[in-house]
Amino acid sequence: MTTNPLANKHITLAVTGGIAAYKACELVRLFVKAGAVVQVVMTEAAARFVGPLTFETLSGRPVALDLFSGKMPHLALTREKTDLLLVAPASANILAKAAQGIADDLVSTLIAGRNCPLAVAPAMNDKMWTNAPNQRNIALLKQDGVHIFGPACGELACGVSGSGRMLEPQQLMACARRVLTPQILAGKKVLVTAGPTYEPIDPVRGITNLSSGKQGYAVAQAAFEAGADVELVSGPTGLRAPYGVKLVKTDTALSMKAAVDKAAPQADIFISVAAVADWHVRAPSSQKIKKASLQGSQPMIALEENPDILAETAKANKRLYCVGFAAETQNVESYAREKLNRKGLSLVVGNNAGFALGADVNSVVFVTKNASVAFEGISKQEVACRLINAIACDLGLCKGENL
Ligand SMILES: Cc1cc2nc3c(=O)[nH]c(=O)nc-3n(C[C@H](O)[C@H](O)[C@H](O)COP(=O)(O)O)c2cc1C
Repeated sequence: MTTNPLANKHITLAVTGGIAAYKACELVRLFVKAGAVVQVVMTEAAARFVGPLTFETLSGRPVALDLFSGKMPHLALTREKTDLLLVAPASANILAKAAQGIADDLVSTLIAGRNCPLAVAPAMNDKMWTNAPNQRNIALLKQDGVHIFGPACGELACGVSGSGRMLEPQQLMACARRVLTPQILAGKKVLVTAGPTYEPIDPVRGITNLSSGKQGYAVAQAAFEAGADVELVSGPTGLRAPYGVKLVKTDTALSMKAAVDKAAPQADIFISVAAVADWHVRAPSSQKIKKASLQGSQPMIALEENPDILAETAKANKRLYCVGFAAETQNVESYAREKLNRKGLSLVVGNNAGFALGADVNSVVFVTKNASVAFEGISKQEVACRLINAIACDLGLCKGENL
């Protein structure tokens, strides 16, 4: 299995003429950083927006611009070894040409003669995007199996707000990773919880914990990239929702439970990564508690136990594949196995609480009924990819691999 679908992949990035061409520079940088080899190809119009030298420097390869130079570059570029031909930004013009098989410059000829998956990231003014011929072209491209990345709705270069905005480079990376990742969870609905919970004491104070949400968000993203339909129920974090994932924001353990109760019956897999508070304040004050009002005595805060979201969800949804995380400070594997049995789970990820909270790196052990496997000092993204693979293998969805 691979935990980085972009490592050593050959991406041909075709840049066409739109303002969003400047964002393609960042995209090249991100692809290269992820270990991909990037060959940039530009239309004549694109070269009016951003100089080829920028792309050349970022990709470390000469930019291909001309159909009539070299040895049939239009075929060589996608046949040599290209894993993905990505057009970003994709102008209305190139979408029309691609939909109709027109091949009158290097980029359109490459598209017509490709021998690899094609993805386009449309970028244009909202009127151009919703224009009937453009929508017909998009429908034709979809029919032809072309991946359409976006566009988003938001502020456009022409000053108005509407649909037609190119996805951000990070979002395009997530889309590209999904195209290049084996779709082992295709058709599966995955429910993930992440982050801490927040239990109010009064309107300005509360009880929370050090969970950053990084691990849960990485799991949601990895599930999306493996083809799943993902809902992420999150406690308060400062993180952006992973692209393609439905985010449901919650705060208290009870609100998180309500969101999970709603989604769990439709889900196939539930991965509980959130650090849910064990207790909430029995009667939070509706007004800020004033120190002076206590007249020197200590505040008394009565606590009440929260429900065990994971155990109750596993009990109420017998056909759900349930995964828990066990944050321990010692005997990680044996506590993880004890949790697996006590809560009736399919898999438990044991990790070191002191080490994992807030960090980017984690050491974990995956425990199922019959097996366990440990990984030391790997990134939370890698933990997420390995976990998705382990779940798919345990469910019999990966051929020839097991935990
Ligand atoms: C300043 C400026 C901005 C433009 N922005 C876009 C755009 O965002 N999307 C688009 O489809 N066309 C845009 N165009 C029009 C294209 O550049 C034009 O259709 C061109 O023929 C596209 O050529 P290409 O598809 O070969 O790159 C813009 C033109 C100008 C002058």
